[in-house]
Amino acid sequence: MFFTQLLPKKIREFFRGNLYVFSLYLAMENLLVNWRTKHHTGRTFNALSVEEGVEYVDEVFREYLEVGQFSTADILGKKILEVGPGDNFGVALKFIAAGAEQVVALDRFSQIRDSNKEANVYRCLEQDLSQSEALKMKSAYGMVNGKIQVDPQMIDYWENCPVESYKSSDGFDLIVSRSVLEHVADLKVVFEAFARLLKPGGTMIHRVDLRAHGMFTDRSDMFFLTLPSWWWSAIGSRTGNINRTRCESYTQLIRQTGFEVTNWIINHHYSDFSVKSVRPNLAREFSPLSDEELSVAGFSFSARRRV
Ligand SMILES: C[S@@+](CC[C@H](N)C(=O)[O-])C[C@H]1O[C@@H](n2cnc3c(N)ncnc32)[C@H](O)[C@@H]1O
Repeated sequence: MFFTQLLPKKIREFFRGNLYVFSLYLAMENLLVNWRTKHHTGRTFNALSVEEGVEYVDEVFREYLEVGQFSTADILGKKILEVGPGDNFGVALKFIAAGAEQVVALDRFSQIRDSNKEANVYRCLEQDLSQSEALKMKSAYGMVNGKIQVDPQMIDYWENCPVESYKSSDGFDLIVSRSVLEHVADLKVVFEAFARLLKPGGTMIHRVDLRAHGMFTDRSDMFFLTLPSWWWSAIGSRTGNINRTRCESYTQLIRQTGFEVTNWIINHHYSDFSVKSVRPNLAREFSPLSDEELSVAGFSFSARRRV
């Protein structure tokens, strides 16, 4: 628990409503981040009911297959790296059920987990599987002293382990992430790590959300792009706040680090009105961008490591 969370809700809401006070609050969290042992950064299951958790996991898994243009048969025997699983193993378990040899799951932070909810979600996920798939899923986890534990032969979980510092002697066939890349501090270093960790010809699939992630909700949807970079860095460089990198920089980095894009889907757009309204106030780094690029608010892609 972080000390600002001890403040009454009303005072915290007052903080959020005032740009300067809210920024100071975030800057303080940013400075003191190392005092926290557990985080709420991947709060999927914490924020969702069991039914919503099941739907979310199913949707994420289905989308990986769609974007990667895979069928479940393509997963058989594959070694998969899931970056930033957050507070649950739902997607990793779906890959195991589909016949993956092993999923390595790495998260930069140690997460606050709700093991009972996790167990309920996993039991519901099993109900929609064939008997043999459900058996595979069941064999990958168990409840030990009230906590979900995974079998490292099937799901090898590392917390407090940013992907850029992970070393592995044998390569992965597939790397996946959802809502992670927009949080990494240095995207080039992360794409270089993906190139190092994937086998030649291996695939990576990521979904990236370029929106404000609920910050400054009382302002316009693109307001966060008006804050200068020193301000942005002060309020979140160490807490995993979003990095504000825009779409075109991703495509350049993907090419530079040895990948070719195999599929690219834009999931969200800002309206023309939002783009035109924010244009006069944009922070310096964003003003050279075209309206078209600024309008991209989220995308999914797959890319193949060049042989
Ligand atoms: C917004 S959450 C998304 C969690 C989950 N993928 C989902 O869809 O709900 C982002 C997650 O990425 C993790 N993360 C951020 N940077 C990372 C990095 N460099 N390496 C590994 N995990 C990272 C965070 O700790 C957090 O759990």
